[in-house]
Amino acid sequence: MPTIVSTPSDWRNLRKPLSGSVGFVPTMGNLHEGHIDLCRRARAENDIVVASVFVNPTQFNQTLDFEKYARTLAADQNLLAEAGVDYLFHPDADSMYPDGYSVKVSEEEIAQELEGAFRPGHFTGMLTVVLKLLNIIGADRAYFGEKDFQQLLLVKKMAANLFLPVEIVACPTVRAQNGLALSSRNARLTPAQLEKAPLLAELLQSGMDDAAVMKKLEEAGFKPEYVETRWGRRLAAAWLGDVRLIDNVPAAEKHKEVLHAAVSGCG
Ligand code: PAF
Repeated sequence: MPTIVSTPSDWRNLRKPLSGSVGFVPTMGNLHEGHIDLCRRARAENDIVVASVFVNPTQFNQTLDFEKYARTLAADQNLLAEAGVDYLFHPDADSMYPDGYSVKVSEEEIAQELEGAFRPGHFTGMLTVVLKLLNIIGADRAYFGEKDFQQLLLVKKMAANLFLPVEIVACPTVRAQNGLALSSRNARLTPAQLEKAPLLAELLQSGMDDAAVMKKLEEAGFKPEYVETRWGRRLAAAWLGDVRLIDNVPAAEKHKEVLHAAVSGCG
């Protein structure tokens, strides 16, 4: 089992005598194969592997959503042990936000679009907690999934522009055999919705344009928020019942554009 560490100062004390490279996988728990894939990659590339489980209140738009987020620490610990994770950083909100969230880090361009437009404040909460976690853990490499593509771009941009001494490693989205991107939220889909959900990835990969994909999703009973091609990817968010799904795939060759200048310096 990974050794559980509960406060930033406990981790700092533990970290001091450790030598060798540190790989870090930040999570909000309720782990699935997508997270474990990140942990395995971190295990293969580093001497020491740390994962965090912290359900970050500042990145939720609705209190109810935060409260409903599944907390599954015992199962998470078993999965992390199987993936060879050495340490589990599991702080509480008071130790992460001693200031009550008066100090924040925000980005003003990418964070305004797509997810940022539909989830005001989400990316400021996410960037703030990721910066805190990166500063606390002091990792050489930190692993993020491409499933949350806009999050990945923002973390890379923050690391590059705040000169953080950490390599941000992007890992491909892990999918079920039917193409559905793995997500903790999938567990909340009914069996009928689970059958329908892979259509999102299927349509994103089709030759149809963004507007046509949006229409097809509506016809199939989704409530799409956006389907857009940016940053060399085709990205979408859509509700299925009360579950919000997001996904993205490489954009078709004809739509490929170089990453916006704002993302430059991301490495
Ligand atoms: O992707 C997530 O699970 C979260 O946004 C992260 C990176 C752990 C920050 O809370």
